[in-house]
Parts: sequence; structure tokens; C-alpha cells
Amino acid sequence: MTRTGVYDEMAGRLAELLGDETDFVANAANTAAVVYGLLADVSWVGIYVNRDGELVLGPFQGPPACTRIGFGEGVCGTAAAERRTVVVPDVRRFPGHIACQADARSEIVVPIKVDGRIVGVLDVDSPVADRFGADDEEGLERLVAVFLRNTSMAL
Ligand code: SME
Repeated sequence: MTRTGVYDEMAGRLAELLGDETDFVANAANTAAVVYGLLADVSWVGIYVNRDGELVLGPFQGPPACTRIGFGEGVCGTAAAERRTVVVPDVRRFPGHIACQADARSEIVVPIKVDGRIVGVLDVDSPVADRFGADDEEGLERLVAVFLRNTSMAL
């Protein structure tokens, strides 16, 4: 299967799984689980939630992680502050990278936006350098759109 095909499958499975559920925590948990379960070479997948300008750890799959990240800090905080997807091919070359996962070598963070407001980020770590490309960027942004479709922002 092509890498874009993997995202087609994930988007379909996620839409089916979320159905008409609206709960933020439930949908965030299933989104992390679908990405973690179906994407090759990833060691951590999770959602950080914007709570009053700070990113706070939400549902995730993988080892325990840092609980609070300021806007502008690390890869997650950079994606939130700059309101764009950030792809880091080698975390050792990203100044300010926050090493929650000892084995992380590359990372992608997709902002979750509602009406222009950053409500959180989706963070995916890989133990493989240069793991994420344009197909992952497009695919993960698509999955965030599926997540947002029915999800209530009430936490
Ligand atoms: N590496 C991230 C921190 C979160 S963990 O990877 C789960 C960062 O630099 O923002």
C-alpha cells in the first residue's frame, strides 16, 4: 500500500470509529490509537490540549510524556505558536526540542484549529530519522479534520 493509501485507510477507519460521538477525550483517545496502531515506525502519538495558552498532555499512546509545554517551546509549542504543521527530520538539530522520548529521532506536530483558534496539537514521534514527509503532513492534517468533524470542544 502507498503511504497515501495508508492515510486513506486510517481516515476511513477513524470516521467509522468516531461515528457520531462528540466527546473530546473519547475522540482524541481513539484518534491517537488509530494513528499509533496503523502508522509504521512511530513510538508515541498524542494530543496536547491548549489550556489558557499552555499545551497540556491529553490522550496518547506510548510511554509517559511531559505534561506541560508553553507556546513557542519545543516542536509542539512551535507548531502552536506558528499555527502550522512542523516536521522535524532530526530532533537533535531542532533547537529547543523537548526530549520526552529518549528514542525519538524525528517528529511531526499538526495544529488542531477551530475557527482560527488553536485548541491543541497532534504530536507523532518516530525512532527513525527523517520518518515524516509531505504525505504524512497531508495525511495527518486530514485525520485532524476527521477528528474535528463531530468533536465538541467542551472538555
Ligand atoms: N518532543 C516534543 C515534546 C512532546 S513529546 O515528544 C511527547 C516537543 O519538542 O515539543
